[in-house]
Amino acid sequence: MKAGVLGVGHFVPEKVVTNFDLEKRMDTSDEWIRTRTGIEERRIASDDMDTSDMGFEAAKKALEHAEVAGEDIDLILVATVTPDMPFPSVACILQEKLGAKKAAAMDLSAACSGFMYGMVTAAQFIESGAYKHVLVVGVEKLSKIVDWEDRNTAVLFGDGAGAVVMGPVSEEKGILSFELGADGSGGKYLYQDQYIQMSGREVFKFAVRQMGESCVNVIEKAGLKREDVDFLIPHQANMRIMESARERLGLPLEKMSTTVRSYGNTSSASIPISISEAAENGQIKDGDVIVLVGFGGGLTWGAIALRWGR
Ligand code: UT7
Repeated sequence: MKAGVLGVGHFVPEKVVTNFDLEKRMDTSDEWIRTRTGIEERRIASDDMDTSDMGFEAAKKALEHAEVAGEDIDLILVATVTPDMPFPSVACILQEKLGAKKAAAMDLSAACSGFMYGMVTAAQFIESGAYKHVLVVGVEKLSKIVDWEDRNTAVLFGDGAGAVVMGPVSEEKGILSFELGADGSGGKYLYQDQYIQMSGREVFKFAVRQMGESCVNVIEKAGLKREDVDFLIPHQANMRIMESARERLGLPLEKMSTTVRSYGNTSSASIPISISEAAENGQIKDGDVIVLVGFGGGLTWGAIALRWGR
């Protein structure tokens, strides 16, 4: 049994905060943010919109797209580091709202790599035959854990949600290979006390090394060559980090998702938002080989080689 993506959806809050808006709030500039990160604007959720509200919107769209009803979901996995509250989980909140009565539900914490961990976990249940439909959501309201006085981090992050419905697909489609990893000794470089704390340079070096390596590893494990890759969806943290992964694979710019420009770094939501947008605007098509790759706090990383379609 092969596990693949049956449907995708995403949601971002309405409110746009541009680099120019941030210039008015802190000692930064549009020029610095754009050249160092590639970010032009980000979306910020209103006070009355919590993580589960965004996750719900994305999940509804993914279920519609997959033509799967709430009551047919077997498991809900939500990757987030900004749940509404420690418990009940966002997954349980969604379970009720989606009418997913028979679904088991849990949140999963692997920071910006969370969606890769979620998809790989979902695939194990599907490939073993234990479950048929697994909803995987990546959602963050990072604006509530960003220190808006700290220009080192405040300019980077945004809010949003993405979701996929996973299920059995035909033999040649679906997940071809994956890699997950962690290095707890690097936890000190990116963590939350009250707010997000980050040693930008250290995370940058780790990300450049790990993203490139993980991409190459999943391509090899799948028995593919770099030139077989049709589209790259890296975690949208920083354009310079993403560019290094793209160059390592020798892909042209139009074969990489660059939603970071419009949404900033939305942590575990960045990959599913990007998958959903790419599917929506025809950047990925049936039969394409897609490489997904993420890295983040923990430190953690994960990558998947996937053949798109059912
Ligand atoms: O999802 C994972 C999350 N994290 C990441 O992916 C972050 C990875 N790291 C990065 O993306 C980059 O390290 C940053 C974008 C955070 C920073 O870029 P950098 O090229 O590594 O810059 P830097 O930290 O070396 O800082 C350069 C200068 C510093 O000034 P001095 O010490 O050289 O005078 C900073 O104080 O830029 C200054 N700076 C800023 N200036 C204007 C830092 N933040 C800002 C800012 N606006 N927002």
